[in-house]
Amino acid sequence: MNILAVESSCDETAVAIVRDGRQVLCDCIASQVALHREYGGVVPEIASRKHIEAIYALADQALRETGLSRKDIDAVAVTYAPGLIGAVLVGVNFAKAAALALGKPLIPVHHIRGHIAANYLAFPDLEPPFLCLVVSGGHTMIVEVTDYTSMRILGTTLDDAAGESFDKVARVLGMPYPGGAALDKAAALGDETKYVLPRSRPGENPYNMSFSGLKTAALNLIHHAGQVGEALDVPSLCAGFCAAVSDTLIPRVRMAIEETGCKKVAIAGGVAANSRIRRDILSMARELGATVYMPPLNLCGDNAAMIGAQGYYEYLAGNTAGMELNAYATKSILGEVL
Ligand code: KG4
Ligand code: ZN
Repeated sequence: MNILAVESSCDETAVAIVRDGRQVLCDCIASQVALHREYGGVVPEIASRKHIEAIYALADQALRETGLSRKDIDAVAVTYAPGLIGAVLVGVNFAKAAALALGKPLIPVHHIRGHIAANYLAFPDLEPPFLCLVVSGGHTMIVEVTDYTSMRILGTTLDDAAGESFDKVARVLGMPYPGGAALDKAAALGDETKYVLPRSRPGENPYNMSFSGLKTAALNLIHHAGQVGEALDVPSLCAGFCAAVSDTLIPRVRMAIEETGCKKVAIAGGVAANSRIRRDILSMARELGATVYMPPLNLCGDNAAMIGAQGYYEYLAGNTAGMELNAYATKSILGEVL
């Protein structure tokens, strides 16, 4: 089954064609990052306009690259939540028009379920059940993927997402948007023990996390150094920050493995590209005799192939939509409108 998949929830317009949920025939992306960089973050109105400009040509490019014709497409999958509402609407309307014109099913896909499904593309043998650490620009959670379309959230951030705090700290350090990757790179040359930042434990659920205190502590440190004219050791601050994020995430993943007895753990989302997190999850899993699934960096960030992968399993579960499909800025991974 060839699925034409569409992703437009943030600042990447993407169209892919994925066969049977596992094989990427093409994965076309038009990134807007350079445009938004000028403003230090995503400008929603610009994002929506650029999606409209790019999406038709990308779909044509996808067909050209694969040599497929329109009649070879069996269904259209699209990110319908969550994201910048104007941006998501562009993809949803394009996908509706394509499904209607082709006379093929329309499959709504939750963006974060898509991130998790990037693992099915990278690891053809991976099947649920498994645990997944989801760390993206807007979401941070530990999920038990019990089946392709059913999951249980063990814990989540109660405030900022890990990616959001990476980007904010990087921005204040003068790194270009989105700063997570630059901060990660700078950290490689630092001494993580020089600046010790807080690891919070919010609320009653031990799986829940918080990153706003960590973000504020890092920002205060930077501003204070500026005010008193003290030279800041930027690589060491970056190393200390990565260590604090990883020390917040990894012990909770360990607890999830120990408590559920599930020995397969995947990671997903843009922040899953972080070298400190990748290193720490590997060594923790090795200690517990668990297997770690880490998608390559191009499948960690936003892309449409992951939407095609999850779309296939949503289709098998009967989760298709009609022309009344709407876009949502927020929606739980379990399907509830927030
Ligand atoms: O999953 P994603 O592409 O988009 C969302 O769905 O939000 O994640 C983007 C986030 C940004 O915050 C970006 O700075 C972060 O992923 N990121 C990283 C790294 N590469 C990307 N954060 C830390 N270390 C990295 N190497
Ligand atoms: Zn994403």
